[in-house]
Amino acid sequence: MTQQSYYDVLVIGSGAAGLSLALELVEHIQDISIAILSKDTLEAGSTQHAQGGISVVLGEDDSLASHVDDTLNAGAGLCNPEIVSFTVAQGPDRIAWLINQGVPFTQQFDGLGHLTYHLTREGGHSHRRVIHVEDATGKAIIDTLIANAHRHQNIELLERHILVDLINGKKIGLSSTRCMGAYVLDRDNAKVKVIRARFVILATGGAGKVYLYTSNPDVATGDGIATAWRIGCRIANMEFIQFHPTCLYHPDAKSFLISEAVRGEGGKLLLPNGATFMENFHPRGELAPRDVVARAIDHEMKRLGSDCVFLDISHKPADFITSHFPNIYEYCLELGYDMTRQPIPVVPAAHYTCGGIVTDKNACTDIEGLYAIGEVAFTGLHGANRMASNSLLECLVFAHSACQHIIEHYHTTTVPQTLPEWDESRVTDSDEEVVVAHNWDELRRFMWDYVGIVRTTKRLQRAKHRIDLLHSEIQEYYSHFRVTNDLIELRNLAVVADLIITSALLRKESRGLHYTLDYARTDALIQNTVLVKSL
Ligand code: FAD
Ligand code: SIN
Repeated sequence: MTQQSYYDVLVIGSGAAGLSLALELVEHIQDISIAILSKDTLEAGSTQHAQGGISVVLGEDDSLASHVDDTLNAGAGLCNPEIVSFTVAQGPDRIAWLINQGVPFTQQFDGLGHLTYHLTREGGHSHRRVIHVEDATGKAIIDTLIANAHRHQNIELLERHILVDLINGKKIGLSSTRCMGAYVLDRDNAKVKVIRARFVILATGGAGKVYLYTSNPDVATGDGIATAWRIGCRIANMEFIQFHPTCLYHPDAKSFLISEAVRGEGGKLLLPNGATFMENFHPRGELAPRDVVARAIDHEMKRLGSDCVFLDISHKPADFITSHFPNIYEYCLELGYDMTRQPIPVVPAAHYTCGGIVTDKNACTDIEGLYAIGEVAFTGLHGANRMASNSLLECLVFAHSACQHIIEHYHTTTVPQTLPEWDESRVTDSDEEVVVAHNWDELRRFMWDYVGIVRTTKRLQRAKHRIDLLHSEIQEYYSHFRVTNDLIELRNLAVVADLIITSALLRKESRGLHYTLDYARTDALIQNTVLVKSL
C-alpha cells in the first residue's frame, strides 16, 4: 500500500511565493494543516539568489502610475494593464507584510536625518523604486520566511520531496476535474507517496535549466508548468524567456549574477577594447529594458567573436562599491576580479520564464482547487519582457490573492478519503542512467543553440525535430523504469522545451524577448500565445 497523507493545503515549492502563502494562511485560519514541499533543501529555489530587490512605489517623487507605465513599456504591448495596475497598487502593503515578517531591508538617513528605506535603480524603471537588503535581498527574504515557517506547528516542511504528478477527479472516475492531491517522490527512501489536499498550490518557480547557461539554480526545471500541462491547464507565452544581460563569465562561477543594480548605480558596459556601446542601441543606454541590453551584448559578442563583454563600475569610490555590493564584490574578488579597480567579464544567460500556467487575479488555474503562484504562473503582469524586480513583487501579490481565495472557499471544500495508489507493478530499476544524463545535456545544448536570444524559423524547426525524438525516448524510459529525481526533471524539461519551441514557432513577429530574424518587425495585432492540450 502506498502511504497516503492529508493536509488542508499542499504547497509545492518553498520560494518567496509558496512560503508567503503558507505564512499568510496560518495568520487567518486556525488549525489549518499545510505541507510545503521542496524537491531539494528549502532554500534551493531562485528566491535565495535574488540580488537587486523588489520594485515598489515608496519614493516621494514616484507614483503608481509611473510604475505601471514602466512595466507596460518593458512588456512591449503584451502586459495585461488591469493585472499590472492591480499588482503595482498592492506593492506597498505586501512590502509592509514582509517588513512585519522581519525582513531587514537596507535603510539610510535622508536629508532631514530620518531613517528611510534605500531604493536602488534598475533597467526599465524611470525612478528609484527597488527596495533591497544590500545585494542579497532574496537570501534575507528566504531566511526570514523559512525561520518563521519553522515556528508554526501547522506547517510541515518536507525537504527532498519532488512532485511527480497531480491527481484530479478524473483519476478516480469522477466527472469533476478538481485537483485533489499529488504523487510525490520522497527522494530519501525512493518511495512515491500520495498526498491528499483540499487545495493544491504550484509554487515551483521557473525553467531556466532548460538552457545550457542560466542564472537559475538546479531546481528550476519547469516541473510545475509541465505537470499543470499534463493535467489540462492552459500554458501561455512560453516563447518569452528572459536572458539576464550580466552573468559573471568565469569557468568556476556557476550561474553567478551581477545585479542590474550595478548598472543602476552607474556601471558601464564595455567592449573588450574598452569602448562603451549601449548608447548605440537605446537612449537609456545601460538602463534600457533587459531584452534590449541582452540582445545588444549578444550582437557585439557575435560581431567581434568575443567570449564576453565587460561591466565597469570602478570609476565609483571603492567604499561606495563595497557598501552597495558587498556580496558581489567578495565573490568576484575570490575569482580574481577586484571590481573597485577593474571591469568584470559578463555574458547573458537564461534568467526568467515570463510565460507559465494561465491564472486569474485569484491565482486560480483552469483546474478547480489548483492554484499557481510566483514564477510558475502566467498572470499577464510581464507581457513580452519582465521589468527588473517585478518578479518578487508578483510572488507576494499573488500569494496574497490565493490566500484570500482559499479563505473564501475553505469551509465548502472536501476531498475523498483515499486516492488511487501509485502503480509500480510494471517498472524496474533503471540499468541505463546514462540515457537520462545524455538527454539532459543534449536538450539544454540545443535549446541554447537553436532557441536562444536571436532565433530563426529554421533553427526552431531543428529544435522541434530534436524535442519530438527526445519526447518519445523519454516516455518509453519513463514507462519502464522506477522514477528518480533526474528522470522526473528530464521528463518535465522535455515538456517545457517543447512548449517554448512550439510557442516560438507560432509567434510570427519579433516582440520583447522573442526576436527572430525571419520576422524582425513587430505586428500591429497584439496577442498572447496560449497553448491548450488535447486530453
Ligand atoms: P523559487 O524561489 O524558484 O522556488 C521554487 C521552489 O519550488 C523551490 O523550493 C523548489 O525546490 C521547489 N520545486 C520545484 N519543482 C519542484 C517539484 N517538482 N517538487 C517539489 N518542489 C519543487 N526577481 C526580482 O524580483 N528581483 C531580483 O532581484 C531578482 N534577482 C534574481 C537573481 C537571480 C540569480 C535569479 C535566478 C532570479 C532573480 N529574480 C529576481 C527572479 C526571482 O528571484 C524569482 O522569479 C522568484 O524568486 C521565484 O520565486 P518562486 O517562489 O516562484 O520560486
Ligand atoms: C538583478 O539583480 O539584476 C536581478 C533583478 C531581477 O531579475 O529582477
